[in-house]
Amino acid sequence: MDLILLGLPGAGKGTQAEYIVKEYNVPHISTGDIFRAALKNETPLGLEAKKYMDAGELVPDEVTNNIVKERLQEDDVKDGFLLDGYPRTLNQSEALKNNLQDLGRELDAVIYLNVPKEILIERLAGRYICSNCGATYHKLNNPTQVEGVCDNCGGTEFHQRDDDKPETVEKRIKVNEEQTDKLVEYFNNEGVLVEIEGNRDPKDVFAEVKEILQGKTLN
Ligand code: AP5
Ligand code: MG
Repeated sequence: MDLILLGLPGAGKGTQAEYIVKEYNVPHISTGDIFRAALKNETPLGLEAKKYMDAGELVPDEVTNNIVKERLQEDDVKDGFLLDGYPRTLNQSEALKNNLQDLGRELDAVIYLNVPKEILIERLAGRYICSNCGATYHKLNNPTQVEGVCDNCGGTEFHQRDDDKPETVEKRIKVNEEQTDKLVEYFNNEGVLVEIEGNRDPKDVFAEVKEILQGKTLN
């Protein structure tokens, strides 16, 4: 099952990815997570990416395309992958298409989580993340079941993302809006786009994702 989760910042890509990974055991490839991990380890890639992430801008296509190209050659993706936050530009979409062609595989679905902009700002302002396992929560919409304890790993340390400051959030949404419209059109033309109303309870969104994925099996 070769899948893409598409949506503006805060649309719920990471949240749905957690559900999808648990249900379908498919590797989750989030370019944002890759950049954040590189930054944590202070690698040259992380330090380069930080300049763009802090400004709410996109990391250059060439850098991002190379990372994904290498990742898609790893053994664990041979039966499927879930891309989250990639591709994000038409250039990246074309690069992915060429990569997949070289690997002799095809996308099964591009799931577009559509959420109104006003909601996104509120979601990102309330987001917090388990510092141990990376599970994502929201102060109001999606809190941990036991206050201060991660549902997933029992961790008790949480943090907010550096790029969730209000001024960066607005920039991120603006930068991604134009690109996302183009990607929606692109994948629609490719015949693989499925749009989901993302402004609902995360479990209801996932129920629809499951309907879409019904019948699709690991390659
Ligand atoms: P990335 O990490 O991908 O960030 P993003 O696209 O801005 O998306 P987010 O991770 O902020 O949101 P999400 O859709 O995952 O939402 P979540 O599930 O967390 O990228 C970060 C940066 O890296 C980019 O700005 C760029 O600089 C760089 N980058 C990454 N990929 C790149 C690429 N391909 N090219 C170039 N640069 C790239 O949910 C958000 C909140 O809402 C949470 O609190 C959650 O609990 C809550 N929530 C989720 N679903 C629901 C729901 N249904 N109802 C209510 N609340 C919900
Ligand atoms: Mg995310």
